Amino acid sequence: MIDAMTDVIIYEVGPRDGLQNEANFVETETKIELINRLSKTGLIKIEATSFVSPKWVPQLADSSQVMAGIERKEGVSYSALTPNLKGAELAIKANVDEIAIFAAASESFSQKNINCSIEESIDRFKPVMEMAKDHKLKVRGYVSCVTHCPYDGEISPATVSDISETLIKMGCYEISLGDTIGKADPAAIKKLLRAHEAVLPLQNLALHCHDTYGRALDNIAAGLEMGIRTFDSSVAGLGGCPYAEGASGNVATEDVLSLVNSLGLNSGVDIDKIIDVALYISKKLGRAPNSKTAVK
Ligand code: HMG
Ligand code: MG
Repeated sequence: MIDAMTDVIIYEVGPRDGLQNEANFVETETKIELINRLSKTGLIKIEATSFVSPKWVPQLADSSQVMAGIERKEGVSYSALTPNLKGAELAIKANVDEIAIFAAASESFSQKNINCSIEESIDRFKPVMEMAKDHKLKVRGYVSCVTHCPYDGEISPATVSDISETLIKMGCYEISLGDTIGKADPAAIKKLLRAHEAVLPLQNLALHCHDTYGRALDNIAAGLEMGIRTFDSSVAGLGGCPYAEGASGNVATEDVLSLVNSLGLNSGVDIDKIIDVALYISKKLGRAPNSKTAVK
């Protein structure tokens, strides 16, 4: 439940977007413990896993066990990525609170990530949306590569806003705009958001920034200036994307909180508790957190 005093929503994607990129298999128990610890930090949105082909992302092949093993905290929404009907069926069986469909703004990334064109992906999502509607499940939409694609280069804002508009019209309650390889800058983010303003309310947008070039916080600040209030982030800066070379590091949740707190905005999330979780998972993975705040 969103508190009336909440200014900013942090959408934690570490257990999914973070761990999916780990080369070595992370024990199911560790994934469960990570989510349970995150559940106690004040977060209200946790992307717990994905129901994708285990052939494509073996790391998350244990998604059903993870969902079955976690302690559900009241008020926290546990979501999962679903690329197709099979994924949606499994996610519903696992009793997720919300699912996410994921499209790309570039043809090459769409092919590499989900093995189909953008148009085919939209067709594939239609029955997923129907199924979600039948089960009264909220659906989030992702668009990746919103300013740059690792294969196709620069992407025009209008290309992205067209896809976002389509996903909203299909019934997504929110679109998360992914700067998948972290090449955006504040000017590009503002251009992108202006293109969206013409086709949908900005309250329906979230920003999903990667910190590859150290610009994620500047991009988030630009989003805040434009009125965006939901930001995806990953505890300890875990992650990247297996199908986008150079997509090292989702912006760290603790770094976003540091920014948000410094601006006097309330997210309801306790930064010290997030730092503890960042240290926990980093120790399990055998390295330091990929953030400024947790290694201070
Ligand atoms: P495909 O190979 O074309 O599909 O993959 P398929 O239908 O031929 O299926 C291949 C095998 O996978 C079959 O098994 C299916 O049953 C199985 P087999 O018969 O060979 O034994 N399968 C599944 N198993 C479990 N759950 C499923 C599922 N679907 C098929 N849902 C497909 C197409 C979409 C399935 C594949 O490409 C895929 O799973 N892709 C997902 C890759 C992924 O997770 N990438 C990372 C997402 S990150 C991202 O997109 C960016 C984001 O983080 C934001 C940002 O940073 O920008 C969101
Ligand atoms: Mg990401």
